[in-house]
Amino acid sequence: MKVAPSILSADFGRLDEEIKAICDGGCDYIHVDVMDGHFVPNMTIGPVVVKSVAKVATKPLDVHLMVENNTFFVELFAPLKPEFISFHIESEKHPHRLIQKIRSYGIKPAIVLNPHTTPQTIEYILDDVDMVLLMSVNPGFGGQKFIPSVIEKARKLKSMINKRGLNTLIEVDGGVNDKNVKELANAGVDIVVAGNFVFSNPSYKDAISSLK
Ligand code: DX5
Ligand code: ZN
Repeated sequence: MKVAPSILSADFGRLDEEIKAICDGGCDYIHVDVMDGHFVPNMTIGPVVVKSVAKVATKPLDVHLMVENNTFFVELFAPLKPEFISFHIESEKHPHRLIQKIRSYGIKPAIVLNPHTTPQTIEYILDDVDMVLLMSVNPGFGGQKFIPSVIEKARKLKSMINKRGLNTLIEVDGGVNDKNVKELANAGVDIVVAGNFVFSNPSYKDAISSLK
């Protein structure tokens, strides 16, 4: 299992130390939650702060957009060269076009599904993305309770991916901990995002290892 700690739960007063600690603690990606106060009822960080994160990071960035104007935010974050930019299918009228745009920057495009959204909605764009991110909470805040229906959804999605012989990654985000991670792995999940679970542990390294 690959682990992407969400810096939403980090101490922003000492962000550089927090980033170094998760990188030294063996994380695979740094999950960056971008919220606009419109698509979700919260606001987080923009490219200025993420640029400082990128400077100290020794692991690739995984940018999760929770915004209404996806194109605007893709253009803002693309110069920071994250590994992935993911956007919500629920907030985009032209997902296929946006996927091509993200790829044109040399960045891997990923699509995000809210808890109520079925994998069938992405049937005709599944071949075009590198990763599908399944939300296991309603997006907007860290520290929420895991919604278990995501496990069955991950299984369905995995079978769609296998049937087509694709290598598309499955990521799950929200309420992940050392109790539910095993079921997620069994369902075919490749990467888990973990905010509260990692940053509330006195040792980030131990928390990351227990998820792996
Ligand atoms: C929720 C975010 C998540 C969140 C995960 O909107 O997308 O990345 O920070 O945090 P935990 O692991 O605390 O649920
Ligand atoms: Zn996220």
